[in-house]
Amino acid sequence: MKGFSTRAIQAATRAPKVDQHPNSVPIYQAVTFSSADAEELGEVTSGRTPGYAYGRIANPTDTALEEAIAEIHGAEAAQVFASGMAAIHAALVSVVSAGDRIVSTRAVYGSTRSQLINLLGRFGVTVEFVDATDHEAVERALAAAPTRMLYVETIANPTIVVTDIAALARIAHRHGAALVVDNTFASAYLCRPLELGADLVAESATKFMSGHSDVLGGVVVGSRERIARVRSVQIDTGGTLAPFAAFLILRGLATLAVRMDRHTATATALAAWLEGQPGIERVFHPSLASHPQAAVCAAQLRSAGGMLAFELAGGRVAGRAFVDALTIPERTASLGSIHTIVAHPPSTTHRQLTDAELTETGIAAGLLRCSVGLEDLQDLQADFTNALEAARRAAADAGTPATGAPPGAPASPIADLPERATAAVRP
Ligand SMILES: Cc1ncc(COP(=O)(O)O)c(C=O)c1O
Repeated sequence: MKGFSTRAIQAATRAPKVDQHPNSVPIYQAVTFSSADAEELGEVTSGRTPGYAYGRIANPTDTALEEAIAEIHGAEAAQVFASGMAAIHAALVSVVSAGDRIVSTRAVYGSTRSQLINLLGRFGVTVEFVDATDHEAVERALAAAPTRMLYVETIANPTIVVTDIAALARIAHRHGAALVVDNTFASAYLCRPLELGADLVAESATKFMSGHSDVLGGVVVGSRERIARVRSVQIDTGGTLAPFAAFLILRGLATLAVRMDRHTATATALAAWLEGQPGIERVFHPSLASHPQAAVCAAQLRSAGGMLAFELAGGRVAGRAFVDALTIPERTASLGSIHTIVAHPPSTTHRQLTDAELTETGIAAGLLRCSVGLEDLQDLQADFTNALEAARRAAADAGTPATGAPPGAPASPIADLPERATAAVRP
């Protein structure tokens, strides 16, 4: 008989054979998978034969998630990652090499901007930032020099800028550039950029896709050929998604549609209601006729989604008082969760800027970003009513003028953000 340790190791790692189909994807909490012989191991590790050998390279729970995401995006293939930023990094470096040029929207997530400037910049990649809602400006930037990639976001911070992906795909391709889209704010339920002509789509699975603020993850979808290049970046850099994280994201994905419908319904009602409230200067939500890209929203988004922004009269003092008075939304970073999350960039991500600098960046001092959660509308409205009252009182006490929008602020403020300000933007 074999010794105790040998028997214990073999007995404790014997996976059961299950004839009945489980109704959720099992968590394959294994880093190594054994092959029948050396020949099979060589075939699997070199990728010539599909299979599993080592967890950084592939895991069955991750594969299940990749197949599910590819299907809902209408993509040939998907590659999952440990976070949205790992996915974006792989999407970028799967396309560009040292010395290449990228044109990016100015309305880009802060860590992506930092990755473009601070990381890729060190390898000689140059980036020009443009207002992606100004198609002539995009065309001029692409025509100025050979460009490998146009990088945009479907819906972007902080004023819920919506990008016309079909139009930008035509422009990018005319100039020989690949269109890469961050679809995090929209999710595949609202928008499938590949169907509109995008070449690669990255999403943070941390947000709406998983939906519960309890898991980090990211994904890139695209053609089989493009994802093969993304996958080789993942294998070499090791930003692998853990199997338990893949399980949580799969569980979120199953209810994405019903959650997005509820996020949209509540955000649409809140946006319409906020537009009529005293002390509100402007509301930004794709459902509103006043949205600067209302026609694009109607054509491109299945529904308006859960992200909205609004400007309070009374500036920074009012914004801070509003956030402090809330009792239901969470005061935190991130978005796309069961919880409503309200952020006041001028007292958090843009805290270091003076009011004059905020004006220069086009961010109103009283701007609030809200990721509308799944709570009951009436409760959120009651909480917002109290917070608006607190904001008005704080502004009156401070003697702040009752206008939140900086004089001469552009209609689509984020479009004019200078580098220094957006580099500070985090989740
Ligand atoms: C638009 C957007 N893209 C990417 C990311 C990065 O995602 P993660 O935090 O999962 O890396 C975020 C995070 O907030 C985001 O808002």
